[in-house]
Amino acid sequence: MRILSGIQPTGILHIGNYLGMMRPAIALQDLETNEAFYFIADYHALTTIDNPETLRANSRRVALDFLACGLKVDRGALFRQSDVPQVTELAWILSTVTPKALLERATSYKDKVARGLPASAGLFTYPVLMAADILIYDSDLVPVGKDQKQHLEMTRDMAQKFNETFGEGLKLPEPYIQTATETVPGIDGQKMSKSYGNTIDIFAEEKEMRKQVMSIVTDSTLVEAPKDPASSTIFQLYSLFASKEETEHMREKFQRGGSGYGEFKKELFAKLWEYFEPMRKRRAEILADPDYIDAVLERGARRANEIADTVMKRVRAAVGL
Ligand code: TYM
Repeated sequence: MRILSGIQPTGILHIGNYLGMMRPAIALQDLETNEAFYFIADYHALTTIDNPETLRANSRRVALDFLACGLKVDRGALFRQSDVPQVTELAWILSTVTPKALLERATSYKDKVARGLPASAGLFTYPVLMAADILIYDSDLVPVGKDQKQHLEMTRDMAQKFNETFGEGLKLPEPYIQTATETVPGIDGQKMSKSYGNTIDIFAEEKEMRKQVMSIVTDSTLVEAPKDPASSTIFQLYSLFASKEETEHMREKFQRGGSGYGEFKKELFAKLWEYFEPMRKRRAEILADPDYIDAVLERGARRANEIADTVMKRVRAAVGL
């Protein structure tokens, strides 16, 4: 099976990215029969970043962080989206069979414009490029968080429309969304997102990560009183990193009363810091070998280009180019 996913190099990765996409993506990559294609969506990031230095630096940083989190380079390809420029050709071809009304229904476009992003044509046609990203590798399964679900549905719609128009040609992918981590909450309880400023960052310095965790918004239940674990962001996040036993233990403490949120936050911080310890170590090792990331990206780009060229040959022939 071919697994594919992308991540935008918009800044520092947070535990929403990790739980929603990176952790499942890495787990899928470990299965014997899978080939994994993961890429840094730098073309997409141009819809929000207009500083070349920032884009370059962020792209390298995402590669570094993804590798540090356990991505295995011998089990697939890690590459930059822009190292496979054919994807923009496929996006153009797809755009000619994509109803404008389909794009007008995209909630992420509406959200972004509502948050003040300029409503560029690129932002509007973002889902078409994303569909091309997926379809150009004949992808079977796409691990993503729930916020990308609509984009996956649109991808299937576009592939179907293409196949209806030109005969079979594109493979319809399936989304892979894990229920427990489909929307990871941020420190204010909303979806964790860099643009909401509510993140806990995977590779933040100790002091910074502690500050982020201690800033989790809580209600005003008194220390002595029992607390509801189900509605607590602290408990939710803790359970996503802790063992079953640890989670049950914390649940009992919530329900028993006598412990304050501050204490639970300290436990969450300790858990997160411990969880990411091996990854921080690996990150430092990668950083000590400056050529490693470039070598990985180059190899990834070669493999991705092989597949993209094959699919584009099929697509060009199908449409009459
Ligand atoms: P991006 O860069 O916003 O996010 C990368 C991945 O992280 C997931 N994610 C979350 N999951 C759960 N809870 C959260 N709070 C949370 N925040 C982020 C996202 O769902 C995503 O899986 N459009 C994509 C990038 C992309 C792509 C693709 C993905 C471009 N082409 C092709 C898959 C296939 C995006 O902006 O993700």
